[in-house]
Amino acid sequence: MSGLVIAIDGPAASGKGTLARRLAEYFNLPHLDTGLLYRATACALLDEGLPLDDEEAATAAARGLSLTDFDDARLRSREMGEAASVVAALPQVRAELVDLQRRFAAREEGAVLDGRDIGTVICPGARVKIFVTATPETRAQRRALELARRGEEVDYPTILADVKRRDERDSARAVAPLKPAADAVTLDTSDLDIEAAFRAAVAIVEKARG
Ligand code: CDP
Repeated sequence: MSGLVIAIDGPAASGKGTLARRLAEYFNLPHLDTGLLYRATACALLDEGLPLDDEEAATAAARGLSLTDFDDARLRSREMGEAASVVAALPQVRAELVDLQRRFAAREEGAVLDGRDIGTVICPGARVKIFVTATPETRAQRRALELARRGEEVDYPTILADVKRRDERDSARAVAPLKPAADAVTLDTSDLDIEAAFRAAVAIVEKARG
């Protein structure tokens, strides 16, 4: 039997990253935060002083990525999340990153991937698909706390506006828009703390494994 692939998708600051990390630890699987691929692509363009909609340069940057480049705290900044959602709307950039993600998911032991299109485009055959969501207000509060912990103080109204703008951009794009796969289980974490959300996610995985 092939390995256990767990696809986690959801909007900005829904808690999918934390859940994916915890599930990977619990089920002893490798984890890929696919948002980092788009963040690193955007970062390469910004570093070269190129506009974020330069599709050719962005595609070349995406092609040059390796999964070991990713521990830069700068990639996790608010600025890079915004920039990532601009390059992530470019069809050639997405196409360039498909193989890398699918190769990761094809590991013998299985894998946990989190992003926007894992259950719909990257791993449509994943045994487990979870769509993690929460209200924009809850997500903005979580993101404000997370950024403050990293020393980036941004006021709540600005973050709420970011979250809503990013939802709109990610859901409206033509290629691989943010939406739950038809066979995904939706997990609304608005009223759940991390522990409760984790327990609910483990239950979803166990059920899907049969
Ligand atoms: O944690 P947060 O959702 O803010 O950020 P992220 O998951 O690192 O994603 C940053 C941006 O990359 C998103 O707003 C998406 O536009 C894009 N992205 C994507 O299009 N497809 C993915 N599989 C992952 C991220």
